[in-house]
Amino acid sequence: MVPPNSPFERPRRQIEREFGVPVPGEILPRESWTQTAVKKLPPPGPLDFKEMFGREAPVMLDIGCGNGRSTLASAVWRPGIDHLSSDVLPVVIRYATRRANQRGLTNVRFAVIGGRELLADYIAPQTIAEIHVYHPQPYYESSQVHRRLITPEFLALVHRSLVPDGLFILQTDNPGYWKYMQQVVPLFFNWTPHADRWPDSPKGRTRREIIAIKQSLPVFRGSGRPRSDVSPDAALQLAVTLPPPTFDADRKLRALDRMERESGS
Ligand SMILES: C[S@@+](CC[C@H](N)C(=O)[O-])C[C@H]1O[C@@H](n2cnc3c(N)ncnc32)[C@H](O)[C@@H]1O
Repeated sequence: MVPPNSPFERPRRQIEREFGVPVPGEILPRESWTQTAVKKLPPPGPLDFKEMFGREAPVMLDIGCGNGRSTLASAVWRPGIDHLSSDVLPVVIRYATRRANQRGLTNVRFAVIGGRELLADYIAPQTIAEIHVYHPQPYYESSQVHRRLITPEFLALVHRSLVPDGLFILQTDNPGYWKYMQQVVPLFFNWTPHADRWPDSPKGRTRREIIAIKQSLPVFRGSGRPRSDVSPDAALQLAVTLPPPTFDADRKLRALDRMERESGS
């Protein structure tokens, strides 16, 4: 046995778990931590990702990233990709940022900003390799319904932001929201629903997916690439002719949503 404090003792790997599922990456000694928060966004205008990351690489956006689990997984497992993730809630961005910092990641930044505003004000057309949206907030209260993220305008902005063969990933556990997505998303993207769990994360790519799986809720997943027969301008024109998302939810989903919003991290 190696005696305690021996120079031969291998440092213990610090793995963090959430609901028993390891959070990707490992916590490094403090001297290896990085700074991944975008403390203040510049005035509106296309972001300069080369300046932000100090290199040229494909960029992925994780919109409504919550505690950042899906961003961390992608950043740890795909070091050649740069990631900008956003959420409207400063507290979840703080959790996400801390985790990315502790893992010494240099290919991630987190910003507090809404997804629509990020795409409309900060992303140049056809510059983003991948846009991921996992479990957008369903906003059930009538006073909040207008805040739903997946609208025709948002889809047109995703279409405009992606490079021509870029990837859009969308996932929810809300059957009503999914039904709406299935109607409008294929108008902008060549769209494929995925019946199975993501092979890279069978227990869930995100915190909400893990919760949904544990609660035996169905999880709806899909991916697509921008339709080449719809130009970015035509997508924006099409968007104004389409209806906004309307759906309701049963009591179990509402209660789960409330619980999750209150629990945070
Ligand atoms: C149900 S949680 C899902 C979080 C994470 N993607 C997951 O799957 O665990 C929805 C997240 O979207 C964020 N959100 C709500 N409206 C948003 C918007 N307009 N733009 C960006 N994020 C938003 C919420 O603050 C919340 O963190």
